[in-house]
Amino acid sequence: MKNIAIFASGTGSNAQKIIDHFRNTGLARVTVILSNKAEAGIFKIAEREQIPAVLIDKEQFFRGDTYVKLLQDLDTDLVVLAGFLWKVPANLVQAFPNRIINIHPALLPKFGGKGMYGHFVHEAVLAAGETESGITIHYVNEKYDDGGVILQERCPVTADDTPETLARKVQVLEHRWFPLIVERLLK
Ligand code: GAR
Repeated sequence: MKNIAIFASGTGSNAQKIIDHFRNTGLARVTVILSNKAEAGIFKIAEREQIPAVLIDKEQFFRGDTYVKLLQDLDTDLVVLAGFLWKVPANLVQAFPNRIINIHPALLPKFGGKGMYGHFVHEAVLAAGETESGITIHYVNEKYDDGGVILQERCPVTADDTPETLARKVQVLEHRWFPLIVERLLK
């Protein structure tokens, strides 16, 4: 049985898909969920799924080793960023080489970097007149949205798209592919 740790700051729909994917498989389980936002939907999911949840202390996250130790103590095989918006500090990246992955709602290297998340990404894609967008799942290094690409999947951007309609197309891809890639990396 492999152990997954999820970092998330948003509604947690991707985290939910991963939890669902591995439920009762004996393959892997989500052992902890960490978030920097007390009001994040992810805490409700964690409670319902009876998965331990941790509200991250900023000072400890960026300057301490509390979370590295926690993840090591849980024998974490893969750290999954599912809508987590802070840069991952060097000590955490180095403690889990090639074992931290992120999902981004666009085709990196375009539309990545600090401040590029959620609707801001889709607005930027539309403003740039792109004819396609999609998802990027990639390894995490010490820079925003920068590590090696594991998978990109595309969807068309049409003239009538709004940030909301594009977000829905991208979310379909996220929910379809993220659990499968997590599984592939754990095998
Ligand atoms: C996802 O669309 C993910 O790609 C994005 O946050 C959303 C979280 O949704 N991540 C980023 O923008 C990272 N730069 P969720 O809370 O419903 O899973």
